Parts: sequence; structure tokens; C-alpha cells
Amino acid sequence: MTSTVKFHVEDRIAWVSFNRPDKRNAMSPALNRRMLEVLDELEFRPDVGVLVLSGEGDAWSAGMDLKEYFRENEAKGLGATRAAQREAYAWWKRLRWYQKPTIAMVNGWCFGGGYGPLYACDLAIAAEEAKFGLSEINWGILPGGGATKVVADLVPMRDAMYHALTGEMIGGAKAAEWRLVNEAVPLAGLKARVTELAKVLLTKNPVALKATKDAVRRVREMTYENAEDYLVRAQEAANSFDNDGRKEGIRQFIDEKSSEQTG
Ligand code: COA
Repeated sequence: MTSTVKFHVEDRIAWVSFNRPDKRNAMSPALNRRMLEVLDELEFRPDVGVLVLSGEGDAWSAGMDLKEYFRENEAKGLGATRAAQREAYAWWKRLRWYQKPTIAMVNGWCFGGGYGPLYACDLAIAAEEAKFGLSEINWGILPGGGATKVVADLVPMRDAMYHALTGEMIGGAKAAEWRLVNEAVPLAGLKARVTELAKVLLTKNPVALKATKDAVRRVREMTYENAEDYLVRAQEAANSFDNDGRKEGIRQFIDEKSSEQTG
């Protein structure tokens, strides 16, 4: 049986992809189950510094599998529906707080439930040719599974409302303008751009990367005072965990002027 998830590691980048191209990489229960296993396997491997999530074929993911995830579980009853939700939400959550930095490489269709893993990835680069849509309204349902939360968090309110209420698709460039993704590039250059970005992340201290990505997500929900306090403690915790890396980075900057500064 073909695996629903493909992955390989090359030069410290874990390339993970949805692998149901015939079904536009719709997330079935089998795929959700397998993805959690793959994330588990890769998370603490010393040869992995960055994880990239992409899709085989011409889709990133067409969202939840309308047949295998929704219809078949609904026919079995509420218990089956809840069990399928737990499996999907489990790997998205795992990805939101993943040990390594993550990049969504959105190569094609990205719909509905696909917004869950899109948001879970720390960074997102899309092909200009990709198409994004909250098509739920066209099926007579609201964008659940976190999708509404994702657009409300990432996209300005008027655009989020328009997107959710009309079900109209947008392209990669508009998705970048709305900040659903960091940027959009032509599909032909997508992998090269993602590789370039991954390589930047690979030069950073991994303890600092994990502390920083968690902090960016956490402080969004905090008052300034709480964020200040959280960041002091997060920095101190990271220091005690990896004092040598921090001291070395500061030493290089002050004593050798050798650390690369960007921006
Ligand atoms: N769930 C289950 N199957 C899906 C699917 C989904 N979300 N999205 C696509 N598929 C299946 C189709 O049923 C079809 O299967 P078949 O070959 O056995 O008939 C196959 O994938 C190809 O789909 P098709 O519509 O022919 O491809 P396309 O390239 O013309 O269009 C999409 C691609 C993504 C625009 C279209 O498939 C689509 O609108 N999918 C639904 C997306 C959606 O609303 N997702 C929200 C779910 S939360």
C-alpha cells in the first residue's frame, strides 16, 4: 500500500509531503495517523534542523477528505467523528509546537482543513500558481477545524470575512498580500526559495529558534506585562539549557565581529 505521507532528509532539511495526489492530498484518517508518526520520527533526529511540509502532485492539500473523514465517520456516529478530529488536530498541534522550525511550501491547492497545518508551520512560502479557498460556505457549513481561527488570526478582518463568506479562491500573490503566507514566488522557483530560507534557519542556534518560535506564538495572546515576564523566563530557561551556544554567539559578535547580521 502506498504511504499517505512521503519524506526524506537531505542536508539537514526534512522534506515531508502529503502523498495522496489523486485525491488532491485531502486529509483522510489514514493520512492524519501516518503524519503524526512521521512527525514523531523526525522531531528529535540530530540530522534534521528544519522541516518542510509540501504536497505531491498539483495540490498542497484540498483539506479534509469529504468522504473518508466526514461522510464515513458521520455514518458511524459521534464517537467516530470525534476520534477522527482528535487524530487530525493532534498532528497540527504537534506541528505548531514542533521542536524544529517548519516551513509550509504551498505548491498548489490549499483548502479548508489545510489551513490548520498551514498555520501550524512557522513560515509559509507559496507558489504564485497556488490557490487558496475556504470552500466550506459552498458546502453549506462553516470553516471549522481551526480554519476560521486561522484566517481571523492571520488576515485583516475585512479580507477574512470576505474570504470566509464568499468561498472565492485567491492565488498565491493575494495570499501573501493578506499574510496567509510570507511570500509567493513562481512555482518553478518555489523549492529553491524554500531551500534558501531553510538554509538561513540552519545557521541559527536551534535552542534559540525553538524558544523564539514558541515565544512569537505565546505572546500574541498576552498583555505586554505578561509577555515581558514570559520572555525573561523563556530566555533564562534557554540560557540554562544552552548557555554555551548563547555565550559563543555573543562572544563571536563582540570579540570577533564574525557573526552574520541580516536585516
Ligand atoms: N475530499 C475528498 N476527495 C477529494 C477532495 C476532498 N477534500 N478534494 C478532491 N478530492 C478528490 C475528488 O473527489 C477526485 O476523486 P476521484 O478522482 O476519485 O473522483 C479527485 O480528488 C480529484 O478531484 P477533482 O475535483 O477532479 O480535481 P481538480 O484538480 O479538478 O480540482 C480541487 C481540485 C481541489 C479544486 C477540487 O477537488 C475541490 O474543490 N476539492 C474540494 C476542496 C474542499 O472543498 N475542501 C474543503 C474540505 S474541508
